[in-house]
Amino acid sequence: MKFFLDTANVDEIRQGVEMGLVDGVTTNPTLVAKENRKFKETIIEIAELVAPGPVSAEVTALTADDMVSEAREISEWAKNIVIKIPMITEGMKAVQRLSKEDIKTNVTLVFRVEQALLAAKAGAYYVSPFVGRIDDIGHDGMEVVDEIIEVFDNYEIERCEIIAASLRHTDHVKQAMLLGVDIATVPFKIFEQIFKHPLTDIGLKRFLDDWEKVKELV
Ligand code: G3P
Repeated sequence: MKFFLDTANVDEIRQGVEMGLVDGVTTNPTLVAKENRKFKETIIEIAELVAPGPVSAEVTALTADDMVSEAREISEWAKNIVIKIPMITEGMKAVQRLSKEDIKTNVTLVFRVEQALLAAKAGAYYVSPFVGRIDDIGHDGMEVVDEIIEVFDNYEIERCEIIAASLRHTDHVKQAMLLGVDIATVPFKIFEQIFKHPLTDIGLKRFLDDWEKVKELV
């Protein structure tokens, strides 16, 4: 499974890249707005940090024509930029046009399996079901991911990767792995947490304490 960081914070991305095992980054307008910086310079800096891994940057236009123009411009900023397009009818028109121009898209705000199939059919390179937000309304977000895996398998869809998004805790990451999802995009805090276990720290401390007692004999 690939790990993407779901953040627009360059310090977090720098730390994640130094830790290794980061395969890409996803952003959205909310995450970019939190940084209080210009969109273009933020995305360019992220793209440099994570290259050659992909960086998803989202359009904010609402018509296919405007989305396509915005996507063309954003995709010029760096080779590894993927355009995030919302799962609306205009968005799917844009995805079809962008796919013919070899501009990679990540269809976002996916909440049901039917939407994922339409996105793949339109030519999306990635599809992003929002697990946490589905859980928030009392349904099972991972069940939707499971359904998407099954349906993509039924139709032998290989060119569209599934990104488990809106992950809120390490158990979501575990469930994504068990389902065999292609990619999990996680906030930096969760990425740090999945490296850790209290018994690892306790065990390491004990090893080092014991070593301290005998090190002169070695
Ligand atoms: O990748 C999608 C993600 O940014 C949304 O997460 O926590 O706002 O539902 P959340």
